[in-house]
Amino acid sequence: MPTPLPVHGTTPGALLRGDTAADYAVALHAVVDDLADRVAGARQPFCGASRRELQALVDGVDLDGPPVGTPDALRETAELYASHAVWFHHPAYAAHLNCPVALPAVGAEAMLAAINTSVDTYDQSTVATLMEQRLVEWTAARIGFPDGDGVFTSGGTQSNLQALHLARERALTAPDGARLGGAARRDRLGRLRVLATGSGHFSVARSALLLGLDDDAVVAVPTDDAGRMDPGALARALVDVERAGDVVMAVVVTAGTTDRGCVDPIGPVADLCDAVGAWLHVDAAYGGGLLVSPRRRHLLDGVERARSVTVDFHKTFFQPVSSSALLVREAADLARVTWHADYLNPAEESGERNPDLNLVDKSLQTTRRFDALKLWATLRAVGADGVGAMVDGVCDLAAAVHADLAGDAELRLLAPTDLSTVLFRFQPDGVDDARADALVPRVRRVLFDSGRALVAKTVIDGRPCLKLTLLNPDTTLDDVRGVLDLVRSTAHGLLAGEELLTDDAPPCRGAHPRLERTAVPHDATLEEALR
Ligand SMILES: Cc1ncc(COP(=O)(O)O)c(C=O)c1O
Repeated sequence: MPTPLPVHGTTPGALLRGDTAADYAVALHAVVDDLADRVAGARQPFCGASRRELQALVDGVDLDGPPVGTPDALRETAELYASHAVWFHHPAYAAHLNCPVALPAVGAEAMLAAINTSVDTYDQSTVATLMEQRLVEWTAARIGFPDGDGVFTSGGTQSNLQALHLARERALTAPDGARLGGAARRDRLGRLRVLATGSGHFSVARSALLLGLDDDAVVAVPTDDAGRMDPGALARALVDVERAGDVVMAVVVTAGTTDRGCVDPIGPVADLCDAVGAWLHVDAAYGGGLLVSPRRRHLLDGVERARSVTVDFHKTFFQPVSSSALLVREAADLARVTWHADYLNPAEESGERNPDLNLVDKSLQTTRRFDALKLWATLRAVGADGVGAMVDGVCDLAAAVHADLAGDAELRLLAPTDLSTVLFRFQPDGVDDARADALVPRVRRVLFDSGRALVAKTVIDGRPCLKLTLLNPDTTLDDVRGVLDLVRSTAHGLLAGEELLTDDAPPCRGAHPRLERTAVPHDATLEEALR
């Protein structure tokens, strides 16, 4: 006897639809209530569970087991994920470019997840397309692109890739406007050069490779001592490229370098780009929030002269991941990525004949999240000035930390910042460079494994160092001093040969039993690490 087919072909209760809308409300309220408790109760940025413990928990879930239903699945998922997540709103989180998220944006995220709009074509998104476009125009206006356009992307990496793609297509266009093909295209492609500093984001070099450029296509432009592009050096590099018979595809400046938080001199670079007709791309993934800063907007002076700009809303606009945009000064530039498909955006319905607005025409993605909704809700709830005040707040905090550390006998500042990073090493008198180098990853690791404070590490001018990225406007100078005290005590402990790494305590939730612990066992001493 064959098993009868279910009447609707769906697993009962699996989908959000009219007859499960009440279940949706109950399930979401439970998730939100639980998360509200966790957010309020997070006593440290990470619970400190080890990779081994987490792997065991992850492997312990039987993905082929009997289904448990939505409420239990969400409870179990929260227990696994939220109990062991890294909390970016905690003041002792100061590692990477992650921000606490704007409350209205989180509400909007719930909306867009439930409705599941895809903003590729108008017929799938209607008002969402219009809202995204309005925000693109708003951002373009803030930059100073009166005839500009743009599109939301998944992040700065994607925005930079698309910018360089547009620049490449422009460089591969013949004087009559035709797209170069065949041998002429191959020959020119091999001669295209991208000029950027070593402080630029790695996505620039990787994009160059993805775009088929030569291995040595990215030319490193020297910087000043603070890591900002040196316009004089750029001028010489432009001459060198021309003398070598190569072609400048783009000059990339960074408005907020990832490590140093420095802004390249956009105006002087724009002068040089104008003189040789080079495409200027401003990577403002980090510094984009300056667009709304009441006190620091001037740091972006000249950005309106760029041909393209990356802005990451999920950094300095306090948006949940993902939310970024690529903006262009000349709307027509975006047509270089347009591709038509009969089922989606047929050529005969494009341009003037397009009664709608198919954003897929401007994007490298097809199905695409309606991330713009989050920024929309944030601007309405908090206002652009409110967002900008938070950007100024984190920059002020970084300036205060720099002032606090100036002349410190143990924590040595390595570089200034325009935005909100702090680069430093623990190196009191008597600690040589090799020992100070070895301390950097170990201090970071000990703090991470304790879960009490999360800081990053990087390399500046060839030397390892610790890095704070301050993106939490609620963090105080005292909070940062607390993190730095942990750095000091951990470094002293390592120098003294104390054992300082984590044991196998069970993963924790809520009151985090390890909070009071200052030192936990380590697998090797600093002396061993140096051998
Ligand atoms: C200057 C800069 N550009 C681009 C990116 C890449 O952004 P995303 O991580 O959103 O892809 C980053 C990330 O930190 C960055 O700092």
